[in-house]
Amino acid sequence: MGRLIRLSPLALLAFSASAAPLRGKSSEFIWASTKALIAFGDSYTYVQGTRGYVNSTFIGSQLDISYTPQELLTDLIVQNQTGTAEGGPNWIEYLTRCGLKPGYTSPLTCEPQLWDFAFGGADISVDFTPLHHNWTVSLENQVKQFISYGNPVLENFLDKKKTLIAIWIGINDIGDSAKYAVNFPTFYNTLQNHLFSLVSSLYSLGYPNFLFFNLPPLNRRPGLIDSANPLPNATMIDYGILDEPAKYGFVNTTNYCAAYNQPDILTDPEEYGCLPQDEYFWFNSGHMTSHVHKILAGALEEFLEKNSRR
Ligand SMILES: *[C@@H]1O[C@H](CO)[C@@H](O)[C@H](O)[C@H]1NC(C)=O
Ligand SMILES: *[C@@H]1O[C@H](CO)[C@@H](O)[C@H](O)[C@H]1NC(C)=O
Ligand SMILES: *[C@@H]1O[C@H](CO)[C@@H](O)[C@H](O)[C@H]1NC(C)=O
Ligand SMILES: *[C@@H]1O[C@H](CO)[C@@H](O)[C@H](O)[C@H]1NC(C)=O
Ligand SMILES: *[C@@H]1O[C@H](CO)[C@@H](O)[C@H](O)[C@H]1NC(C)=O
Repeated sequence: MGRLIRLSPLALLAFSASAAPLRGKSSEFIWASTKALIAFGDSYTYVQGTRGYVNSTFIGSQLDISYTPQELLTDLIVQNQTGTAEGGPNWIEYLTRCGLKPGYTSPLTCEPQLWDFAFGGADISVDFTPLHHNWTVSLENQVKQFISYGNPVLENFLDKKKTLIAIWIGINDIGDSAKYAVNFPTFYNTLQNHLFSLVSSLYSLGYPNFLFFNLPPLNRRPGLIDSANPLPNATMIDYGILDEPAKYGFVNTTNYCAAYNQPDILTDPEEYGCLPQDEYFWFNSGHMTSHVHKILAGALEEFLEKNSRR
């Protein structure tokens, strides 16, 4: 399977990452000449689109899964307080610099372009965990939706070899299955196998470059794909941003501002007894702040440059 790049967000917090081809021969990957990112996942990655379901996605929903080429190509990324789940730009917007400015951005005007099909609240598949809402598009359905409606449009003008597919999924699966009475290593293995069958169907469309974020600490993750190189290990995970917050400008890493969703929270945090949002690590109970996403994106960009190869 071509060249696969994968890394853990925890590894990024430690400013280190691992990359390895999964199997077979490597193909070229050059970050500097990457023309587009196509993303799948959950609220960590979704961006609001003018044709998206509110607080959930760039385009469509499970209640309205299809879209026309015209609808896709005229959809705009929204940047405002509710445009992401972070109260500001998220990692993929920082990485692509697409949709960073307040207001509306057409992905077509960006380089690299950002085509983001992640859906807030998504799990991998209803085979394992129920949908959060009847409008939620699971990762499985994001991929099916892309195969039916997205790819036939985008492949007309995107160079697949210069496109990176990014997948960050799993936080909802972990949370939603926490109370299950199952053998977790076996259960997570099943989930990962399912995930990789979805990746295979994207790969067979002709996209050779993939970026994966892994959720749990890689060293403790069951069913390591690359057990010969289980990085980051426990030591590396231990020295992240959370241990050196001041270095990155974070003042409060233990809690979040309860008024995070107030319309004037960015301009008047004192009114709510809060620090400026950028000084918090956590945006709310499940999400990191936009500032953390900015740091992640910076580290990720370095990683992608270092791992560029002909
Ligand atoms: C979207 O999110 C904002 C901020 O959390 C919330 O105030 C609003 O009610 C949400 N809208 C819908 C339709 O869920
Ligand atoms: C952000 O923009 C979207 C789309 O224009 C709009 O529906 C939403 O209410 C806006 N949110 C805020 C906080 O202004
Ligand atoms: C989806 O769920 C909402 C709220 O739970 C409900 O009001 C609506 O009727 C449902 N729609 C469909 C098509 O099932
Ligand atoms: C993890 O890797 C680092 C860097 O190679 C090494 O210094 C450290 O001893 C390792 N820790 C464990 C627990 O293997
Ligand atoms: C962190 O922020 C929360 C919410 O603003 C506050 O309640 C808490 O006291 C702060 N913790 C520290 C250690 O400053």
